[in-house]
Amino acid sequence: MPDHATATAKVAVFVSGTGTNMAALLYASRLPGSPYEIALVAANDPAAPALALARAEGVPTFALAHAGMAREDHDAAMERAARDAGAQYIVLAGYMRILTPGFVGRWEGRMLNIHPSLLPAYPGLDTHARAIAAGDSYGGTSVHLVTEELDAGEILGQIAIAIQPGDTPAALAARVRLAEHQLYPRVLADFVSRWNDPQHLLARVRTLALALPRTHERESHGAPGFRVGTEKSGKFFAHFSDRHHGAPHVSLLVKCAGLDELETLVEAQPHAYHKPAYYGASGWIGVILNRADLDWDDVAHWLRRSWQQVAPKSIAGLLDTADAS
Ligand code: GRF
Repeated sequence: MPDHATATAKVAVFVSGTGTNMAALLYASRLPGSPYEIALVAANDPAAPALALARAEGVPTFALAHAGMAREDHDAAMERAARDAGAQYIVLAGYMRILTPGFVGRWEGRMLNIHPSLLPAYPGLDTHARAIAAGDSYGGTSVHLVTEELDAGEILGQIAIAIQPGDTPAALAARVRLAEHQLYPRVLADFVSRWNDPQHLLARVRTLALALPRTHERESHGAPGFRVGTEKSGKFFAHFSDRHHGAPHVSLLVKCAGLDELETLVEAQPHAYHKPAYYGASGWIGVILNRADLDWDDVAHWLRRSWQQVAPKSIAGLLDTADAS
C-alpha cells in the first residue's frame, strides 16, 4: 500500500478476454494525478486480446492457461505473479474464473470486480437477457468488493442504464460497457485513495464508535466526538481529529492508561501513534488513521478500551471487560 500521500497504488488486473475495461483502467491511469497504476495484466488464457493490448502499452503481463490445473494451483500462480509485480490491489475485469476461498480471504478488502447488472439484481451470467425478459426499465453495472459469495460484496459504485424498447442483450451490453469504462476507473481511484480520505475515515470511526453501548455523537471544539452515557451527562471517549493544529495526521483520540503508555507507544511506533496537542497531557493518545496499513481491528479495540475507561460504573458491565482489555 502507498505509505505516503504521493505514492501511486499498484494494481494487478485479471482478465480472460477482450479487456476493454482493463484498457479503460489503463488509459485513465495515464491521466495526470491518477492515484493508481497498472503494475500487471494477468490472464488465464494466453490468447486473451487484453494481453496483446497491455504488451503494446508497455504493461507487464502474465498468462497461464488453467486447463488441467487444480484451481488452488492456478490461483496460487496468478497470486504469485501479482505479488511479484508489487500489486497492492487486484482488480477483476472480465476474469471468468471463480476464485478459491483462500485467495479471496488473503485479498479481502483489496480485490474489486465489475459486474454488468445493478447488483444485488442478477448476479451470475446472462444479466442483460434476464433484465430484458423481466421487463426491467433499467440495466446497469456495479463495482463491488470480492467476497466468497459470488457478486455479493460491498457495492462501491453503480451506474443505471435505461433499457430501450426493442433492446437486445447485445445492444444493451454495448451501452453497459460504455458506462463501465466510466465507472471502473473512477471507483478504483476513489477506493485506493480511501485510506487518506477524512470523510471515509470518519464514517468508519462513527460506525465503530456508535456500535458501542449507550453512545452518541457530539461535536467538541468543532470536531466530531463520541460520548458514552446520557445526552445530558455523558462523557467523551473518542475525538476525531482531522489535521488539527498543523498535524499531518487524521487521527482518533482515545484514552490510554496514562502518559507512560502514551510516550512508550509514540516512541516505539511513531507511524501509528502521536501525542496530540492539549489532549496528550491528559492521557489521550492519537491513533493515526490515515496510513495505508491501518488495522481497523486495532481501532475498534482502542474505542472499546476508551469506552470502558470512561463509562460510568452503572453501565460499564454492558461491555465484556475481557474484550476491552
Ligand atoms: C464486462 O461487461 C464486465 O462487467 C464483466 O465482463 C465484461 C468484461 O468485458 N464482468 P471486457 O473484457 O472488459 O471488455
